[in-house]
Amino acid sequence: MSDDVEFEGEIEARLSEQEYFRPPAKFVGQANVSDPAIHDRFGDEWPHGFEEYAELLDWESRWDETLDASNPPFYEWFVGGELNACYNCVDRHLDERKNQVALLWEGEGGDRSHLTYQDLYREVNRMAAALRTMGVEEDDVVTLHLPMVPALPITMLACARIGAPHSEVFAGFSASALAQRIDDADSDVVVTIDGYYRRGELLNHKQKADQAVEEADTDVDTVLVWERHEGDLHDDVDVVEDRDVLVTDLKADHDRARVDPVTRNAEDPLFLMYTSGTTGQPKGCQHRTGGYLSYVTGTSKYVLDIKPEDTYWCAADIGWITGHSYIVYGPLALGTTSVMYEGAPDHPHKGRIWEIAEKYDVDIFHTSPTAVRMFMKWGPEYPEEYDFDFRHMTTVGEPIQPEAWLWYYKYIGGEDAVIVDTWWQTETGGHLITNLPALDDMKPGSAGKPCPGIQPAIYDDNGNPVEAASGKAGNLVIEKPWPGMLQTVYGDDERFVDEYWRDFSDTNSDDMADWVYKAGDGAVHERDGYFRILGRLDDVMNVAGHRLGTMELESAVAEVEEVAEAAVAAREDAEKGEVPDVYVVLREGIEPSEAVRNGIVRAVEEEIGKFARPANVVFVDDLPKTRSGKIMRRLLEDISNDQDLGDTTTLRDPSVPEQIRDLVHGD
Ligand code: WTA
Repeated sequence: MSDDVEFEGEIEARLSEQEYFRPPAKFVGQANVSDPAIHDRFGDEWPHGFEEYAELLDWESRWDETLDASNPPFYEWFVGGELNACYNCVDRHLDERKNQVALLWEGEGGDRSHLTYQDLYREVNRMAAALRTMGVEEDDVVTLHLPMVPALPITMLACARIGAPHSEVFAGFSASALAQRIDDADSDVVVTIDGYYRRGELLNHKQKADQAVEEADTDVDTVLVWERHEGDLHDDVDVVEDRDVLVTDLKADHDRARVDPVTRNAEDPLFLMYTSGTTGQPKGCQHRTGGYLSYVTGTSKYVLDIKPEDTYWCAADIGWITGHSYIVYGPLALGTTSVMYEGAPDHPHKGRIWEIAEKYDVDIFHTSPTAVRMFMKWGPEYPEEYDFDFRHMTTVGEPIQPEAWLWYYKYIGGEDAVIVDTWWQTETGGHLITNLPALDDMKPGSAGKPCPGIQPAIYDDNGNPVEAASGKAGNLVIEKPWPGMLQTVYGDDERFVDEYWRDFSDTNSDDMADWVYKAGDGAVHERDGYFRILGRLDDVMNVAGHRLGTMELESAVAEVEEVAEAAVAAREDAEKGEVPDVYVVLREGIEPSEAVRNGIVRAVEEEIGKFARPANVVFVDDLPKTRSGKIMRRLLEDISNDQDLGDTTTLRDPSVPEQIRDLVHGD
């Protein structure tokens, strides 16, 4: 076990029992899966059950072997199969539904773009031709820094079409965070946009890419620039000669271009998605083409219950894994109509989400617990004003408190929509724990049962399995591989093994049974067989559904000249789930001041992004440390959350936590 996991696996979780809610009969009657035999099918014939997902796709050549587990944890899925992800999300729908809308995009200010599958086909071909013209070849990593505009899925699909893995960096990330990801992926082409709208303002977004290219060590030779208003470049944006190219111009050159989808092996990478871990820089989770696309398509069909004739809205950002899997790849592979919204949920008014739901008559709605808590705070009068009727609702990204679940069920679902609470991670590609909506009763606050073919378990800190369904808390692990799992950490196989496998596996073994995936979450396998997720056990926090490493925050703060030492603790927050508190020791002779505090906040905004801004900056004389000098973040977390301090006797100076507590809470 790593020293950072401070967790008492043996404690019985003190959780109140919740009542169950039956899925409405009208839902069950129409569900994509209503036969419980699916679990046996996937279980008994493991891993062949997953072929059911792969068969939802069009393959150029079928796989020879479902799983090659000869070199764990470097599993290979659908070995020998060939396919193209873009073809599966676009071209193959043209025969049946070329004039059906694929993307219903709504700008923040109310402008719209409705792209049919035929439109999407045309746009993606143009962009693929444009990328080729700029020298992008198969297997080159293309970095995207795009917000919620159609340019984002179009560019992703264009990359997939020509076999160039994309690496989309959430638009809210700063220039420095972008530079870091460009360097890690050694990516010399960046795709950005001049601007986008946030609370009524047309932001100058391209400046971040400009600064990132300056900062990066990689020699970025091409920056492709989309325009938020085609042909009308943002006034404040600079165009760098010989490096920047407007997509509008390129598209004009390739108006009728057709680019054949490149044949990809199932194991060829489809994309990278950087995510925060416990150590060092963010890791590039590398996802494969065949296994990933099969898995997200299968779970979109069975968990999200998506049908081609539905209007489906996942109100997440495509800049994170949820948007990749469940706005772009899964839903489009199934040929449905997907809604995308550019802006803030409360702009220009707090009913904006429900207004869109009514306008497009959305059937399936997907959001985060943070958003639900926010809607709850705003009050039921906003949704009540609009006429919408969801059949199915999803939550993802954080534990949802039963009271927020009940509010969502009552005021958004009208007590007749089914809810799935889906547990998964950037690394897992798709859902791993969630009820299949027609098969199991809902239980507020509990993600539910494992997905077909998935084998989660709870292990104690010594690596021993805790008895199944015992109601005891511990480390959540997955005992068998699945097709949506990451292939590796980009360029760093060793880190892949260290981060996810080493703690609970026999790393000398080449038997799959000895390799166990560590999720980094704590969970309880309840007596009814449902899993309740408790949250991260490691130094990763979840701020409004955005995953952040305390290490990244601490290194941003450490950049500030006046700072000698810093530690970050997660504080529970009624709205955002968790927020970062920063504890800072200043250099000799420096006095705490508003200016230093602002400098620290600014450093975090510049190194990571505004969404990571610290909630509190606390100036302290010393940090709680063990005798060997390791910072005890857990004690800071106890202080931030006003909880009893645990054992402090092993500290170098046991009085430090008390002093900090008095400072924070007064006495
Ligand atoms: C947390 C987001 C409770 C968890 C898809 C996980 C959840 C991390 C749930 C991954 C859920 C995700 N209930 N917690 N339904 N879903 N989490 O990589 O801590 O951004 O490890 O992927 O979010 O965050 P990531």
